[in-house]
Amino acid sequence: MSDNNPFPNESNTGHIWDDNLRELTNDPPSWWRIGFHLSWILVVVYTLWYPSWPLLETHFKGLTGWTSIGEYEADLKAIEQVRAKYEDKLPGMSAAAILADDELSNYVLRSAKVLFGDNCAACHGTGGAGNPDYPVLADDDWLYGGDINTIVQTITNGRKGVMTAHGKSLSSAEIDKLAEAIHNGKPTQEPLYMAKACFACHGADGKGMAPLGSANLTDAIWRFEEEDQLASIKYTIAHGVNDASDPNTRNAEMPKFGGTKLSETDIKKLAVYVYKLGGGQ
Ligand code: HEC
Ligand code: HEC
Repeated sequence: MSDNNPFPNESNTGHIWDDNLRELTNDPPSWWRIGFHLSWILVVVYTLWYPSWPLLETHFKGLTGWTSIGEYEADLKAIEQVRAKYEDKLPGMSAAAILADDELSNYVLRSAKVLFGDNCAACHGTGGAGNPDYPVLADDDWLYGGDINTIVQTITNGRKGVMTAHGKSLSSAEIDKLAEAIHNGKPTQEPLYMAKACFACHGADGKGMAPLGSANLTDAIWRFEEEDQLASIKYTIAHGVNDASDPNTRNAEMPKFGGTKLSETDIKKLAVYVYKLGGGQ
């Protein structure tokens, strides 16, 4: 082949096209060769370093013993150590004491956010912003009271406010009168308010009584908020709340979380969280 090679003084393969396009046998450039060797060296080092090759029953574990689950567990342990600094103190403290400690209550707020999302947000909305028929927790208007111990009690024991249905004891004209006075925020100006004993639960001033969870009827903040608020008020007066004798009564039950559902510490965390959401009192 070299005999009829028209370019005898260079190292080509003898493959020639179009008279002078030749395939040469030069070495590849050194940057390319270094890259090539580095890449297989990397493969060898990598597969020795980390768990890699499948074997019959198990796999090669790698010379360093690294595993991703091990790294995850070490990270988790580190987080738990940071948490332990706070978590260890909580069981021995009252919710009020946690609230009084800035560093602790900041920690609790962060960890209770998840608890609230898991246990409470379905009814009370994200961040306690409320849902139709469930009270808003992110305000400073309270049915049962917004002091920290009351909130702990609410979460531990649940709540079920009861208002008797008045559909049978009041005429619809009377319901209309009461509803309008309440809608205007002035229930006590309507004589029926005293005459029909609404005051017994809602107070002589109409502002509600915390032990009963009876709504404040003077503040235009609605426990049962609806587009047609006047109609909602009439409905509540007629059918009451949690009154078993009226099949159309409003249902309003805050489940009990004490006992098996949540630990005491989780309840304290949630109470601090709820307290901080709305203006606690
Ligand atoms: C199944 C729905 C539901 C779930 C879940 C729920 N709640 Fe409630 N919650 C209610 C209802 C309904 C009321 C009002 C009860 C009433 O009117 O008598 C209420 C009332 C409250 C109140 C009293 C508000 C006030 O104005 O006094 C607090 C505080 C509260 N809930 C906190 C929580 C927390 C914290 C959680 C999560 C651990 C939670 N709730 C989970 C339905 C729920
Ligand atoms: C046995 C106690 C009781 C009596 C009597 C009572 N209420 Fe109530 N009322 C309540 C409670 C408790 C609530 C709040 C229920 C809840 O949030 O679960 C309530 C809620 C209401 C609401 C809803 C307010 C809102 O924000 O949506 C209206 C309106 C109302 N009452 C009007 C009246 C009127 C008018 C009378 C008299 C005819 C009356 N109530 C008598 C206990 C009572």
